[in-house]
Amino acid sequence: MQASSGQTNSALDRTIGEIVAADYRTAKVFETHGIDFCCGGRVTLATVCREKGINPDTLLREIEAIKSEQIDRSQNYTAWELPFLVDYIVNTHHAYLKENDEQIAIYARKIAEVHGAHHPEVVEIATIFEKIATDMAIHLREEEEVFFPALKRAAAERKANHAPSQEDRAVIEESLAKLGREHEAIGDAIHTIRHLSKEYAIPKDTCNTFMITYQKLKEFEDDLHKHVHLENNILFPKASRL
Ligand SMILES: [Fe+2]
Ligand SMILES: [Fe+2]
Repeated sequence: MQASSGQTNSALDRTIGEIVAADYRTAKVFETHGIDFCCGGRVTLATVCREKGINPDTLLREIEAIKSEQIDRSQNYTAWELPFLVDYIVNTHHAYLKENDEQIAIYARKIAEVHGAHHPEVVEIATIFEKIATDMAIHLREEEEVFFPALKRAAAERKANHAPSQEDRAVIEESLAKLGREHEAIGDAIHTIRHLSKEYAIPKDTCNTFMITYQKLKEFEDDLHKHVHLENNILFPKASRL
């Protein structure tokens, strides 16, 4: 599909991640169209329109429309200083995972045992989720114990007009690559769950636990999208600039 003007063309060359990082309200537009703005956020608007058969002009108009709505300054994450952003990620998204991972894994295993015979997809979902929970626990620990402290030290050095230590720079560089790869793997796994569950559609012949599990899985995915978006598209570029 062709864009109608030069200005539109340059807007179409921006990546989804960049657009959402610049204005979080646009996430709502991408969610409506089923466009991944976190783990798959590195593709351009033009590419995503081509792949999904969306008219670029329509999408750009929707993005512009949402930008004219009142801005919530408490969500202007890009403007936050790095240590504050790190604390926010830990206190909201890491806290959410620590509170919910285990419970969701228990629910998923329970519905696999009760409904697995008629709904074999839930057996696979339970297995995938258990791996996500295990990998996520290691991932969070690495961020909280290694990456984030190095980032905070480096940010403090920069603020005092000093260069960050060689050691911290090496940790940051190594972590950026490794954690980015882990985000992609975890994102792919939760997307497989969404696909297997047919977008978390609850079958008629099931129970309340089934319903709660799917609701919690959907909530988990939404939280993960925002969490990975904040890290991949806002925190990591700030870290690279240190
Ligand atoms: Fe994180
Ligand atoms: Fe992460």
